[in-house]
Amino acid sequence: MTSLPKTDLWDHAQQILIQNDRGGYTIPTAGLYPYQWNWDSAFAAVGFAQFDIDRAWTEIETLFSGQWEDGMVPHILFHKPDPGYYPGHDVWGGIGPIPSSGISQPPVAATMARIIFEQDAEAGRARAEALFPKMLHWHRWFLKWRLDQGAVCVTHPWEAGRDNTPEWDGAMARIDPVGVGEYTRRDTTHVDGSMRPTKYDYDRYIWLVQMGRRLNWDQAALLKENPFRVADPTMTFILLRAHRDLLMMGQALGLDTGGMEDEIALLEAGAQSIWNPELGSFDGRDAHTGEWAGCVSNASFLNWYAGVPSDGQRAHLERVMDLVPYGVPSHDPSSDRFDSKRYWRGPTWAIMNMMIGLGLEDYGDPLGQRVREATRELITRFGFAEYYDPTDGTPAGGKSFTWTAAVWLAWAGKTEETN
Ligand code: DGY
Repeated sequence: MTSLPKTDLWDHAQQILIQNDRGGYTIPTAGLYPYQWNWDSAFAAVGFAQFDIDRAWTEIETLFSGQWEDGMVPHILFHKPDPGYYPGHDVWGGIGPIPSSGISQPPVAATMARIIFEQDAEAGRARAEALFPKMLHWHRWFLKWRLDQGAVCVTHPWEAGRDNTPEWDGAMARIDPVGVGEYTRRDTTHVDGSMRPTKYDYDRYIWLVQMGRRLNWDQAALLKENPFRVADPTMTFILLRAHRDLLMMGQALGLDTGGMEDEIALLEAGAQSIWNPELGSFDGRDAHTGEWAGCVSNASFLNWYAGVPSDGQRAHLERVMDLVPYGVPSHDPSSDRFDSKRYWRGPTWAIMNMMIGLGLEDYGDPLGQRVREATRELITRFGFAEYYDPTDGTPAGGKSFTWTAAVWLAWAGKTEETN
């Protein structure tokens, strides 16, 4: 495989964003993901900010145009129907202003908005002011409906964005997907099935969607009925970071930020509640049973991003990075559940690396640079894939992927000189 010179890669990354632009929002990749995905869009925005700041704001504004009355911002907005994706709005029955799914996704938007705002504080002021209350409403929806001991729970594996991580194995095993019926997956018509979740997983994903729809996405009813509720490092760390960034943006704008500091303290306590002392790592904790997932995942390493340093976690990061040439692996390579190509059970994801790296760099930790360089090498050698096999770099999942291109533009492709 030949390596492209850096300038070509910059142009290529920019082209991917432009090609995946569907007018005000960006699809993650053609075919496999033909709609607007929540956290994908937040990364797209920070990618656009490197060459088109107006378009960057628009990406986030379009995402919030789908916000539900209760504050929830859906994980998918189905702006235009597309028969190539399953499950669509006819299955989800989302109840917001735009056809949507019924769950949310990791709230990275405020963090990316803050980065964009810092680049565009004067011209972007009014846009940031308009987004602030919407973002606060969304964050408070998580605080109202998703907390367990201050940690943020996921109520569907798709909500964390890490669909088939071994962190959900225990909670998934307790679901009996009775009555799920026949359905046709579309994902495996676009990419190799060995890189995707299994039928066992899919039956449970769809069963959970059907339950949410039956309850009309009523959060109080779901809280009682839903067997799947896992306190999750992805959500907890990402919301904590996002709330800090939103507070700083609110203060810079002179807006009312009352209560936010207490909410941050609550989430900080929540972060400690997902520390698994036996594993010596941040870990998923089943909110129904109290059981630990027993996973060192790439979400375990989002602690610095959230402003929660940990020497024990750092030792794990060095260990897993030493085990594979193309880290950070999404699951511990020494675990028997590690599967190097299967989505979130092993592969390396550029967006996770960016958040892990940014967090470490905030602390001036040289490991941050190591994560950035590993990501740069991966993209330089293997292109803009959805994710990569950490053992040999094989690109996997969708190609010409928006968030990987955005990570290149906003972080991985930047060297000391271009920073
Ligand atoms: C999918 O369809 O695979 C997505 O991960 C759901 O968000």
